[in-house]
Parts: sequence; structure tokens; C-alpha cells
Amino acid sequence: MGKGKWSSRQIWATSLALLLLLTGLGLGGHTAQAASVTITNGTDWKDTSGNPIQANSGNILKVGSTYYWYGEHATNGTFDKVNVYTSTDLKNWTFGNSILTKSSATELNSSKIERPKVIYNAATKKYVLWAHYENGSDYSLARVAVATSDTPDGNFVYQGSFRPMGYESRDMTVFVDTDGKAYLITASRQNNGGANNTMAIFQLTADYTNVSSFVGWVFDNAYREAPAVVKKGSTYYLFTSQASGWYPNQGAYATASSMTGTWSALSPFGDPSAYATQIHSIATISGSSGTSYIYMGDRWNPLNLSDHKFIWLPLTLNDSARTATLDWYSSWNIDAAAGTISTPARTNHALGKTATAISATTANPASNANDGNAQTSWAATSSSWPAWWQVDLGSVKSINEVDISWFMYKGSEGYYKYKIEYSTDGVNYTTIDRTNNTTYGFTTDQVSFNARYVRINMVNAVLHNNPNNWYTPTLYEVRVFGN
Ligand code: DGJ
Repeated sequence: MGKGKWSSRQIWATSLALLLLLTGLGLGGHTAQAASVTITNGTDWKDTSGNPIQANSGNILKVGSTYYWYGEHATNGTFDKVNVYTSTDLKNWTFGNSILTKSSATELNSSKIERPKVIYNAATKKYVLWAHYENGSDYSLARVAVATSDTPDGNFVYQGSFRPMGYESRDMTVFVDTDGKAYLITASRQNNGGANNTMAIFQLTADYTNVSSFVGWVFDNAYREAPAVVKKGSTYYLFTSQASGWYPNQGAYATASSMTGTWSALSPFGDPSAYATQIHSIATISGSSGTSYIYMGDRWNPLNLSDHKFIWLPLTLNDSARTATLDWYSSWNIDAAAGTISTPARTNHALGKTATAISATTANPASNANDGNAQTSWAATSSSWPAWWQVDLGSVKSINEVDISWFMYKGSEGYYKYKIEYSTDGVNYTTIDRTNNTTYGFTTDQVSFNARYVRINMVNAVLHNNPNNWYTPTLYEVRVFGN
């Protein structure tokens, strides 16, 4: 073979190398990189036909390589149907079926079916749906409902509703352990106390269609709702929200070595409104490179329950330290095939910088609102409005997002009318008007400006249940992101 001439083997090898290179550059069809998709929070999510996804408060189940996303479609708080959507990448969801509807059973004609969860029973090969069941008008029945199907997206056959072993049951979830035992975890009522005063755990029967035993009470008189369970390694996590109706609140979790307990004390996660959400499920995503966890939250508009947003965030579980961490990301990436999550590079330019305010108490200095800890707060010395808090970023920075964790008081939850004011010189300010805000607890604003000084002008708070704003201007945390 002469110099300069290629053998067919060399040509084949070179072509293969070129193909691999192109594929590696993302020009091919099925690279690991191409499987990474972006989850964008705060927007209205549509299915692959362009229709709004209607799957509130449900869960995700993996069957083969397909993810099934179950959830409820309610119209103004009244049950319409439980839907299922399918996806392989966790971003593009195709509508599959309405697996339970108002006409699936007479008692569903006018009812509330909330927080539906579907689990799979490997022994019976049945998919079993559990949900919170109420009549169409109030929350007095406090029952669970059960339905079953031979396929993950079939028409589920309604089995009826009941109070587990006679106990009240409202916000609930079900969890299948690695040993095949399954559990119902539910907001119940202990010792004739208040409704939802204590959570109860029940073990399910072997076929998962009923409860077989009462396991125990958890969080005595703590009024926790919205349970969600995940297991990592040998650590069980039980996430909950505070009972505050549809308003967001401080989420908290407990850990244990077994579903039968003993459960630890509650630790907070996220900011004091769980980034304006209530949890409903944690999706475990296992792939070729690892396992990741998605916090699935509902952002309800308590004044209009049909106006609802899905909020999905990366959940970091350190099972040896038994901690859970939830940070806010307006968008982030997941690769379902690899089981990996990546978050965008960003810098909180406000963190630890010099903060000032209209006034501040000794216990709640201005610096508490940019100390990286949303559990501490800045508070003004009086309840007069408007009020302001400002951070000096030290030099002019390019800013693309401003996140604010706002004070709320349970029972008079308030949202804030505010303005973001920014300046390069501390003299001339430009205003972004957000007096149209109606989101409770946490706001995130996508912005684009250069500034050294960023001021939060708190114009007023609008309180649920109270026409008078009695709040003292208070901020838990302000984060000012740039690259
Ligand atoms: C309180 C919860 O926290 C809400 O998400 C919702 O489930 C309501 N209960 C209605 O049951």
C-alpha cells in the first residue's frame, strides 16, 4: 500500500472517528448531552399538543423507560379528573388519559379528589391510585379514595372511599418501601384535637388497596399537611408543609431509619414560603450516571385555585448527614437518561454586602436580609409604609435576577406591592414597578440592568383577611444575581 493511499479499514476508522466527533458535539441524535432538558419555573407548562398540563398535586412513576406523571385537574377547587402524561425526558409530556373522572363512580359526580398518587404493586401487577376524597362542598368527610388498573394509563376502576381504620384523613401521600411494604401518610386528627392536628402513618395491605395497621402518630399537634416521602440510602425523609390552606408556608422535613420511626424533629427547607409552594411529591430520577431528586411543588393562587403553577426544583439530599437542601432556580437542567441535574452558574452579588434600610431593630439588622440565611430577617422599627431596604454591591454589576423572600404571618398572609430601584451612583435611580405583584411569600424577577445599588421599595402589603396592613416592613432575604 503506497504512501497517501488509505486502506478501506483506515477510511472506515476515520469515518467512525468523525461520526463520534460529530455525535459528541451534539450533532448526532442520541448523545447524553442531547438528553439534558431545561425546567423553567413560574411559567405555564404545556403538553406536547400545546394544551396546559393539568396534573396538580400528583406524582411521577417510572415504568420501563417512560415516566408517568399523574395529577389532578380541578376547576375552581372541584374535582374534574385525574390525568396522566408520559415522557422520557421529563420535559416533553404527552397527554395519556384521564384515568379517573367524575363519571368513574357515582360518588365522584360531585366530589373533591385531591393529591392523587399512583403506586405499582409488583405482586398483583396492578397500578393503585390513592387520593384524598371529599364531597363536593366541604372537607368534613376526611376520607381516602382508592382505584386500580392493570396498566399505568388505563381507566382506573374505582374501589370506593373510606376513613383509614376510622381515622380522619385529608392531605395524604402513599409510599412504597424498598422491601415492598407500602404506607399511607396523612394529615389526621389525634385525641379529638383540631382537624389535621397530627399526621398518621398506616401500613397498606399486601395488595395496596386498603390499610392493614396503624403505624403511629407523627408531629403531635404540629398541624402539618402536604406529606411527601422519599428514601435515600437507608434514610427516610418525610417532607410536609404547615397547615395554611392554599397559602405557601415554611416547608419542613423529618428523617428516620424506618417508616415506623422514630422520626426526628422537623427542620425547615427552602425559604419561609418554600419559594411560594407547597410540596406534593419528590421524584426519584435514576439513570446511567446516578440518581437525582426533584422537589415537585404546587404554587396555588389561593384566590383562584384554577390559576396554578408547577414548581420543580433540584432537591439535594445528604443521607449521611440526614439533611435536605432546596434552593430556588428559575431554570435548571435535568438529564433523565443520566439521572443527573445541573444548575446554572450564578453569583449572588448581594450576599454579605453592606445593607441599609429606612430603620432597623437591633435584633433584625438590615444585614439579615442578605446574609444567605432566609430564616433571619430585617425588620423596620415601625409599621409605617412605604419602607425601603438597600444593598450596595460594592461596584457596578450586571444583574439578571432579583429574588425576594417576603414576610408572611399565618392567618393574615400578605403579598407585597413593591418596586425594585437600581442605581450606578446612589443618586439617580431607575424603577422596575412591581406594584402589580400578587404572589405570596417569594418573588423572582428576571431583569437586565447594571447597578451598584439595589433598593427594594416596599410600597404596601395586601393582607388576606384584613383590609388594614398591620405588618412591620420585614424581609427574610434578598438575592441579586448576575453572572
Ligand atoms: C391544604 C394543602 O396544603 C393544600 O395544598 C390542599 O391540599 C388543601 N389542603 C386542600 O385539601
